[in-house]
Amino acid sequence: MSYTYIEVTKQIKPYIGLIRLNRPKELNALCLGLMDELVLAFRDLDSDSEIRCIVITGNERAFAAGADIKEMAGKTSTDMLQVDQFSKWEAIKNVKKPIIAAVSGFALGGGCELTMLCDMIVASESAQFGQPEIKIGVIPGAGGTQRLTRAIGKARAMELVLTGRFISAQEAYDAGLITRVVPVELYLEEALSLAQKVAAMAPIAAQLAKESVNAAFNSHLDEGLRLERKNFYLLFATEDQTEGMEAFVEKRPPLWKGR
Ligand code: CAA
Repeated sequence: MSYTYIEVTKQIKPYIGLIRLNRPKELNALCLGLMDELVLAFRDLDSDSEIRCIVITGNERAFAAGADIKEMAGKTSTDMLQVDQFSKWEAIKNVKKPIIAAVSGFALGGGCELTMLCDMIVASESAQFGQPEIKIGVIPGAGGTQRLTRAIGKARAMELVLTGRFISAQEAYDAGLITRVVPVELYLEEALSLAQKVAAMAPIAAQLAKESVNAAFNSHLDEGLRLERKNFYLLFATEDQTEGMEAFVEKRPPLWKGR
């Protein structure tokens, strides 16, 4: 299969598939085309009996700086509902094989949410995590308010979602968001080596272990996700969403109207 926005390498190590997000100029912003490809790649790797663990990465500067703001900027609530971008995230949530995110640089908005869909996160010391959607007049829409809160607790999640502050890899590690922090030159190697340890285990047990841990983590998650999604779409009915995204594209500070 050939892709435009990602690169996929099967057997990067025995039994390991690697997905690399590849829109470097846009800091790997998760446009719809990229998300479509991601779903195809995950499906392909998930159904390949020679793959036991999947690693997803970006580049040194960015894992992913979020959903593509330029693509969303002119949209209305109904446009967003019809595009139904989040069904793609459900497909990734349903991947049975363990997924490890190897993160360097920015993991923001949808980028942070994508790392949280993975089962483990290995980060370089330069990684920064955050949910800055509030700065462009919306809120996280791909699970951020739910998964971040479950991972690091309400008090810390609330601060990040309400202020858009980024946290360092070390802070993310201390808060329990990520598995490991390593020097920048080692983050991919470390993720692959962790993947090899997982791949050395009984494959079906690994899949059921993943499903079981997620069952503990997921109780009532779907309800929370539905609420979050409704609110996300609703925000596309506000003038502040239009202003927030236009201001980003025009590289100026937004002028909020509160409507
Ligand atoms: N969407 C579209 N383009 C983006 C982008 C995004 N999320 N993030 C960065 N880019 C683009 C920039 O527009 C810029 O393009 P141009 O060169 O054509 O102007 C290029 O990537 C490089 O970015 P910057 O020049 O801004 O780089 P920087 O180092 O000065 O800043 C940054 C980096 C802090 C990550 C900044 O780019 C930024 O704040 N990005 C937006 C982060 C964000 O708000 N993410 C949330 C998106 S909404 C979302 O994800 C909803 C959801 O829950 C699903």
